Amino acid sequence: MPADDVVRIAPSILPADLARLGDEVAALQEAGADLIQWDIMDGQFVPNLTVGPDTVAAVRRVTTIPFEAHLMVLTPEVLAPRWVEAGCERLILHAEAVPHLHRSLAAVQELGATAGVALNPATPVAAIAHVLDLVDLVLVMTVNPGFGGQKYLASMAPKIAEVRALVAERGLDVTIEVDGGITADTIGHAAAAGARTFVAGTALFRHPGGLAAAVAELKARAGATITAAG
Ligand code: DX5
Repeated sequence: MPADDVVRIAPSILPADLARLGDEVAALQEAGADLIQWDIMDGQFVPNLTVGPDTVAAVRRVTTIPFEAHLMVLTPEVLAPRWVEAGCERLILHAEAVPHLHRSLAAVQELGATAGVALNPATPVAAIAHVLDLVDLVLVMTVNPGFGGQKYLASMAPKIAEVRALVAERGLDVTIEVDGGITADTIGHAAAAGARTFVAGTALFRHPGGLAAAVAELKARAGATITAAG
């Protein structure tokens, strides 16, 4: 399978038992997850509030799996150095939150991390067309951000395909990630549109067979779709 067709599962920590976060992340690593997506919410950009850099740093001390921070915050620049110090290798900024997106993505690179850019469901691809050379990942939200357990928005498939076409046209090494409502029943739909990294929360933590079975099932479903598409 071509390098850019590798399927990656990035668990969201929202449904995790926060009293045992280090153990939960270690269990996800053991279960075959490829990276952890820290959902960072400030109660402003989205109507929810999650963890800070010190919590991420504490879990970094007891695990080795790669971390990315999905910054659902109004001012990502303020704490960007702290997320990198805490062990996040990629910082994902929302195009809707950052007035000087080009400058802010370049600043993430200057911190020694890679940059990603995220699009809320209503935001067009045109909003990021001029910064694709600064990122290694585009996150197409498949729910309106702020909470886990929401229904997957199949209407985002044309946007995923549009990003994929733009990236291919320019010959860029940019991965497409999706986030929200990803389950064994919806992951194939997103993979067919062009996504290759899949954030999942509920589908992992609520799977009757446990984390390893959940990760394996998601990878198998996405892989089958990609192989079938040839
Ligand atoms: C929502 C978050 C998602 C969410 C995914 O704003 O960005 O990562 O936790 O959870 P599920 O997989 O349950 O939709």
